[in-house]
Amino acid sequence: MQGVLTLTRSTIGQKAIVAVTGVILFGFVIGHLTGNLILLAGPEAYNAYAAALKGNAPLLWGTRITLLTSVILHIVFTMQLAKRNASARPNAYQKPRKDLVTTYAARSMVLTGPLLAAFIAFHLAHFTVPGIGINGVFDPHNPYANLVQDFRVWYVSAIYIFANILLGLHLWHGGWSAAQSIGAQHPKYDALKMRLAAGLALFVACGNVFIPIAVQTHIIGSSEQLAESRALVAAEQAEEE
Ligand code: HEM
Repeated sequence: MQGVLTLTRSTIGQKAIVAVTGVILFGFVIGHLTGNLILLAGPEAYNAYAAALKGNAPLLWGTRITLLTSVILHIVFTMQLAKRNASARPNAYQKPRKDLVTTYAARSMVLTGPLLAAFIAFHLAHFTVPGIGINGVFDPHNPYANLVQDFRVWYVSAIYIFANILLGLHLWHGGWSAAQSIGAQHPKYDALKMRLAAGLALFVACGNVFIPIAVQTHIIGSSEQLAESRALVAAEQAEEE
């Protein structure tokens, strides 16, 4: 217990918690995108994938609890570190800052973090809470149709595209910074870490931006596919009755 308290009070401990929870969340968004790309295989495959996830209670609840705990710890200790930094430097810089990592991503973390928290709340509400589907009726048995209907609304797609560009920036700097906090620090590895974080961040951002664009351009969710998804769900329900 004493050890845990010391860890959560020291700067190094707090940085380690932010880094480890960040890596967990980064891993989730990579897995989430990979799963969502099953959309390209059509309604039957996507709905079967979603049903398999929902049907596996230990996996579903284990993931939910880990994600919720990680998000809370990530935000709480990021705020603690920010407070600590502010009190260690009571006067504003006299000269313009010359950051070691002078990237736009690094300086925008304070903005992208809260905006992403707001996006996640919006995302959870409109895709998982029955009744909040934006365009048409939310059908808990047909996640494919829920997704396609909502992304057909231009401003829903615009929100996702904007949020996922922010996510890309956040992951780019966050991934690199986490590698600094928990990995070996050596100039030799710095370039490699920077490239790995940028590559994974680009994969997540581009993949997530691609999905609403693909729905808007009918690469995913043509009218035939939408009708197919409804027919499949109706047939399954008829079989169950
Ligand atoms: C274009 C991008 C995305 C799409 C198409 C998408 C799609 C979905 C869908 C359809 C669900 C509901 C699944 C179901 O109820 O069967 C879901 C749940 C979820 N998404 Fe996303 N998502 C995207 C991006 C993100 C991002 C960027 C994050 C986090 C930063 C995220 C976090 C979550 C979480 C935490 C859940 C809840 C999982 C659960 O039920 O416990 N998603 N997403």
